[in-house]
Amino acid sequence: MLDLEDRVCLVTGAGGDIGAAIASRLARFGARVEGADLDPGRVTAKLARQCNALKLDVTSEADWDEAIAAITARHGRLDVVVNCAGLFSRTGDRIDRMDLSEWQRLHAVNVDGAFLGTRAGIRAMKNSGGAVINIGSIVGYFGARSGVGYGSSKAAIRGLTMQAAASCVSAGIPVRVNAIHPGYVLTDSALASELARHGTREKAVAAFATRNPGGTVITPENVADAVAFLASDMARMINGVQLLVDAGLSTQMPGRSFVPSEDT
Ligand SMILES: NC(=O)c1ccc[n+]([C@@H]2O[C@H](COP(=O)([O-])OP(=O)(O)OC[C@H]3O[C@@H](n4cnc5c(N)ncnc54)[C@H](O)[C@@H]3O)[C@@H](O)[C@H]2O)c1
Repeated sequence: MLDLEDRVCLVTGAGGDIGAAIASRLARFGARVEGADLDPGRVTAKLARQCNALKLDVTSEADWDEAIAAITARHGRLDVVVNCAGLFSRTGDRIDRMDLSEWQRLHAVNVDGAFLGTRAGIRAMKNSGGAVINIGSIVGYFGARSGVGYGSSKAAIRGLTMQAAASCVSAGIPVRVNAIHPGYVLTDSALASELARHGTREKAVAAFATRNPGGTVITPENVADAVAFLASDMARMINGVQLLVDAGLSTQMPGRSFVPSEDT
């Protein structure tokens, strides 16, 4: 049985759909959860009794210092940091049309924010041990036809995680650093472009689901289950991995193609 009894977990972006599902899952497995967001009101609205809401802009070093100090003062420890706060592209960011300001906006939250969170977690847990889990994306893992800024920022999660894990192992720091790369997860933010295209939620969801193999709907809870596993002692020997939660989409990617049939 997965057990996070009394673990102190910080989840960023906890006001969003995936962050809220993660915070809720960790709490259900017994953790004491701090749900951080730029807008802590969203955390309270979604998770009133399941976690403490915290205001944290992940791009601010001062906010990170304050948040870690507040959490360790409140609980006396920190065991898990989940870097889930993230921004999607506003423009579709085709490379020849992309503004530097949009590139920087995406990288500030998705990369700098994850770096600051990974560093803050490792600093806080380097004696006691713990786990950092970074939320990347299938788009950052394999690339996509559009979404240059978003894809680049999420590809950096792969590198950050690999390097942070290697750095901890080399320095003898007992903090595991792993990444989860979700496929297309049904959230309000991810659905927005399909909603604009199709008008009704029902049609938008049907169109969105076709991005995954067999029209599978991947839910925020599917991602949260993987986070809970990596946060737990069941994953105590797992460090520096890139875990895809993508309903098998990666098996269909170029370069991963199979022989034409199993009896060829
Ligand atoms: N939905 C998907 O299909 C999908 C797929 C792969 C990866 N992801 C990643 O999962 C994460 C959550 O996605 P979601 O669909 O739940 O999005 P969402 O928009 O519902 O949640 C994102 C949250 O991050 C918060 N946030 C934004 N900037 C912040 C900042 N500077 N400091 C603190 N919080 C900030 C927002 O307020 C929001 O609550 C993101 O990192 C996203 O890139 C999502």
